[in-house]
Amino acid sequence: NTILRADEPLAKRTTMRVGGNADVYVEPASETELAQVLQICNRLHAPIFILGRGSNLLVRDGGIHGVVICLVHPNFSKVEFSGYLMHCGAGAKLKQVAMDSKKHQLTGLEFLEGIPGTVGGALRMNAGAMGGWTFDVVESIRYMDYGGEVHEQQATEIKVEYRSCPLLKTHIALGAVLKGHPSNREVVEKRLKTFSAKRWESQPAAPSAGCIFKNPGTIPAGKLIDELGMKGTRVGGAMVSQEHGNFIINEGQATAKDVLNLIQLIKQRARSERGVELETEVEI
Ligand code: FAD
Ligand code: EPU
Repeated sequence: NTILRADEPLAKRTTMRVGGNADVYVEPASETELAQVLQICNRLHAPIFILGRGSNLLVRDGGIHGVVICLVHPNFSKVEFSGYLMHCGAGAKLKQVAMDSKKHQLTGLEFLEGIPGTVGGALRMNAGAMGGWTFDVVESIRYMDYGGEVHEQQATEIKVEYRSCPLLKTHIALGAVLKGHPSNREVVEKRLKTFSAKRWESQPAAPSAGCIFKNPGTIPAGKLIDELGMKGTRVGGAMVSQEHGNFIINEGQATAKDVLNLIQLIKQRARSERGVELETEVEI
């Protein structure tokens, strides 16, 4: 069942829709197969990159050298309920988690609805929206080290930060147990609608990687970029969104280089005019 391809285009596997190819692309169909792939990579000293839905990613035009392992096989994408707990595979889409929690009348996971990634990507990024963070709703995670060994850990024992779970920089998330709170369908539905409306009011629908920069603490990055008058600034096919200053959109023909140059331009202006050092949130 495992998918294995050489020279695989990655642009189509990212929401920004730019970048080159992976030397090798693998979608393992089980944890055993994932462990085997890791062992082969280790033997060959091949660099490894873990890919979810590519929604927080800027793949360079030269692509990714080494082996890209993507955990989106159906066996990694299950969402199963037991009481208030949801057992989610790393490849499960966050939208599905939010929708399934509605079906099971659980509240607390609605903020995941508009984040176009996987459970694995959300754990790695400690993704958040509308005041909620992924690790607010995580009971425990299951992960694999690069030697192929599986571990489980309670969320309370794991250090997390704004937009990062450092443990998962060096380990592969296999899945998580998430916890909701009992509610009813109408309440959950209402929260889903409110969050969705809020997002579509302020964020663009065009291809992007979500917010490009982390909020620096003193001012939201989007507000800062807006105040710098940079909305609509273009480099090639990349443009600062007119809707939200912290989104760079691909107008159709952008290259990764266009996006990178626009990122540099924004960073320079924020530094020289406002003394703010912007840090990218997207993985480059
Ligand atoms: P990818 O982009 O594929 O990967 C992101 C990082 O996670 C990479 O470093 C990758 O190596 C690592 N990774 C992926 N899977 C695993 C795994 N199984 N184990 C270990 N590491 C892994 N983010 C927010 O936080 N809040 C938002 O509101 C939000 N809104 C967005 C809106 C839009 C329109 C877009 C395009 C993006 C938005 N994002 C947002 C960014 C993005 O959706 C999240 O960061 C998401 O969690 C990334 O998941 P992914 O599966 O796409 O990960
Ligand atoms: N603002 C402007 N101009 C802009 C954009 C924003 O003035 O162009 C102002 C808004 O009016 C508001 C403030 O800045 O007063 C904050 O804006 P918003 O509510 O849109 O939130 P944000 O801080 O820009 C964060 C996350 C988003 C998440 C939203 C909603 C970061 C970097 N971004 O955005 O996450 O969806 O809150 O909760 O933390 C992502 O991480 O990729 C992402 C999209």
